[in-house]
This record gives sequence, structure tokens and C-alpha cells, in this order.
Amino acid sequence: MENFDSLRISLDFNNMMTENVGENGISKKELDAYIPYCVKAISNMKLKRNSMKWRELPYNQDEIVKDIKKTAKIIRSNYKSFVVLGIGGSALGPIAVQQALNHLHFNEMEDGVRNAPKFYVEDNIDPERMAALFDVVNPETAMFNCITKSGSTAETMSQLMIVTDVLKNKFGKKINEHLIATTDTDKGNLIKIARRENLKTFFVPDGVGGRFSELCPVGLLPAAVCGINIDFMLEGARFMSSLCENDDVYKNPACMIAVLQFLAMKKGANISVMMPYADSLKYMADWYAQLWAESLGKRYDNDKKIVNYGQTPVKALGVTDQHSQVQLYTEGPFDKVITFLAVQKFRETVLIPHEYSDIEDVSFLGGHTLNELITTELRATEYAIKKSGHMNMTINIPVVNAFTIGELLLLFELSTAFAGELLNIDAFNQPGVEEGKNATYALFDKRGYEKIKASLEGVFEKDGRYII
Ligand code: PA5
Repeated sequence: MENFDSLRISLDFNNMMTENVGENGISKKELDAYIPYCVKAISNMKLKRNSMKWRELPYNQDEIVKDIKKTAKIIRSNYKSFVVLGIGGSALGPIAVQQALNHLHFNEMEDGVRNAPKFYVEDNIDPERMAALFDVVNPETAMFNCITKSGSTAETMSQLMIVTDVLKNKFGKKINEHLIATTDTDKGNLIKIARRENLKTFFVPDGVGGRFSELCPVGLLPAAVCGINIDFMLEGARFMSSLCENDDVYKNPACMIAVLQFLAMKKGANISVMMPYADSLKYMADWYAQLWAESLGKRYDNDKKIVNYGQTPVKALGVTDQHSQVQLYTEGPFDKVITFLAVQKFRETVLIPHEYSDIEDVSFLGGHTLNELITTELRATEYAIKKSGHMNMTINIPVVNAFTIGELLLLFELSTAFAGELLNIDAFNQPGVEEGKNATYALFDKRGYEKIKASLEGVFEKDGRYII
């Protein structure tokens, strides 16, 4: 086996500990008192591996990856735009991975330089945005990929109907040259439509929920179309997966993140700030926010006890948010854990030239690089937050590439699952999303929702006294 140690992501949790942040931190004694629970969680995760099918994705997709690469090659050479229609777990991963691994102005690059179609992810049903899409995407040179695991999500299905209408008006029945489906193997409506329209179809395997689906065709096809090395990404995921099998909690980063956040929550730190210091990782914070919020925000535990657990994810970007949120993080309440994502080697080096040598307050920057500046600012912010006694930890990423992104994805997925174990909740369902979904269906007169519609009579009336 190749040695990937130089690409290994590391977790620095010094600043979670009382030694460094004082009484608002976690003491070694507290942490060690929870080691037996962690050991049990590690053993449970091993026992439950078969029921967590997303954990097998780095290992069991050889044939699928071949098909993805073949399809991606065709799309890359024949289409000018690749448009994902999807929401939540069907969109956030593709967005995050694309941002991390491709040029930061991908769509603005010349066609011959980009060497791939322009990439769009339509994850909202804002009518202005949908209309705007057709101002920049010509359906004749576009491939749409409708991604919905359930095959019934109203937002995605309505987008699909709009797109198929456009395609049918242009191409009659031959819409399958412009539309791909990614969905469940046999459940839901998209698979029915895919069969009817004879669409090329990729599948979301059973037991792989939306927010855990980035390493299946949901994320792999868009990544491959955009020229990302998906084999290397899966390799990174495998590497992290084996690290997180370790029974020694102090050597198992996913379990360690979970227990630190668990203990932080017990102390009232109900906010988890994810703060990458790299534009490439900006949308990793979005992807993480869904994973952490939807998985851990639960009313009931596994014993049906009302617990109302959860930790609110907050997205921040270094250094940008030093000028907006960091004041709160240093001097505000002790209700949060800040996780920095630190890139050790950027893929570009930009020198700050020696200019304005007569203005000392500016000239001191000259001769340094932006790389030094962003890294120094991260160190300085970490220091200030630590000094103010607020818990923070840093995930060090040697370089952003397909391998380390694979590691990062799996690290967060596994730490979410470990946190679910420690909290004794089901991290893989999302009952809280249903209420709003059902009300929408009822209000749209969907068959079977008549009772819900009746129960909504009058509920939208507002008291004018409270509207000014
Ligand atoms: O994580 C989840 O399961 C959800 O966020 C889903 O990804 C989201 O609701 C979209 O669902 P679907 O892929 O079925 O359209």
C-alpha cells in the first residue's frame, strides 16, 4: 500500500482543553472519563458498519466508477454546460467538492482552458434564479443531471418538469441526450420517469442518505465531469476510514471530534462554527452545516425520550469573517466551538510587491506573500480566541487536493455518526423536515394530504397587532 502520510489530515485540539483555554474548556479528566463511552461507540460503529452503507462507498464502486468516468468523458467532450438539479444532500457535496478542487473562477475560464462544461448547481426554486439559468445556459449544448434520492422532493421535481418541458419543446422525444437521472434504484418517481424517458441513470445505493451521499454517483459524476480525480478522492476516503477504525480514541480523529463536541455541548456550547481559511474550502462549511444540523438536531433519543439535542452549525470564512464575526467569537458568550480548517500549502503563491516604501504602515507588507499573511492571520486569530478562553480546534490539511478532500468528507461523516452514537440518537433520519414538506403538499392539493390541509385551516392568519 502506498504511503500517504504526507497527505494525512491532522486534528489539533489543544485549544479545547482547560490547560489552554481555562475553565470554559474540557479538562483531561473529563475527557478521559468519557473514553469508555467512546470505546463503546467505536465498537458499535464496527457492529453497525453493514447498516451504514455510505461507509462502504470508498470500497465498493469499481464498476460504477468506470461507468461514471465513461459518461463524464462523453459529457466533457460534447456539452458546454452541466447542470445539477437537486437540493440538500444532492447539491451541497457537489458544490463543495467543485469549489475545493477546481479553479475558483471555473465557469469564467475560456472553454479551451477549462476543458470541461461550465458547472451549475440549481439548489433553489427561486423563480428569478431559474429564469436566469436559461439566460446563460443553452439547452442545446447542456446536460442536466436531476439528482434526488427519494425521487419525490417537490423542489427538484418541479425543476425537472420545467427542464423537461424546455427540452421536449426543443427536441421532441429525444430528451435523453440532455438529461441524466441520479436516484434510488427502484423507489420514488424519478426512477419511473427515467424509465419512461429512457434516461441514463445512476443510483444512490440503499442505506446511503442524502447528506452522506457525496462519495456515490451523486457527487462522483459531477466531480468527474469537472475533471476531478475521483479515484484519488476515494483513496483519501479509504485512508481516513482506516484511521477512524482505531480503538484508541486518542488516535481516532472522528471519534475525538465527536467526543469533544459532545462534551462541549454538555457545557452549553451549542454552536459549532466551521471556519476554513481558504476560499477553496468555503462551501465545505455549507456541506458540513447540513450534515451536522440535520443529523444531530433531534427531539427524541433512541429510547424515545425527549432530548432536543443539536449543535447549531455556523459558517465562517477566514480571513473575511475576521472582519465580521470574530469580535463575537473572542468576546461573546462561551456557547460555541470554533473549528478552523487550516491549509498548510496553498496551490498558488502570491507575492506582495515592495510598493509605497515611504509609507511604513503599508510597506512592512512588501516582500511577504499572501500565503504568509493568511497563515499568520489564522495563527493570530487562533491565539486571540484561545486567549479569550473560547474553545477551538484546528484541522490541518497539508494541501487541498482530491485525496485530502476525500479524507475530509469521510472525517466529518464519521464524526457525525460517532456523535450520534454518543448522544444515543438516530443521526440518519430527519423527521423534523417532514412537517413543512407535508404542509406544502397539502397546500398544493396533493392527493392523500386532504386531512393535513383541513388541519391547516386558519393557521396562517396573523394578528395585526404584531405586524408594524
Ligand atoms: O440528507 C438528506 O437526506 C436531505 O437533506 C436530502 O438530501 C434532501 O432533502 C434532498 O432529498 P432528495 O435527494 O430525496 O431529493
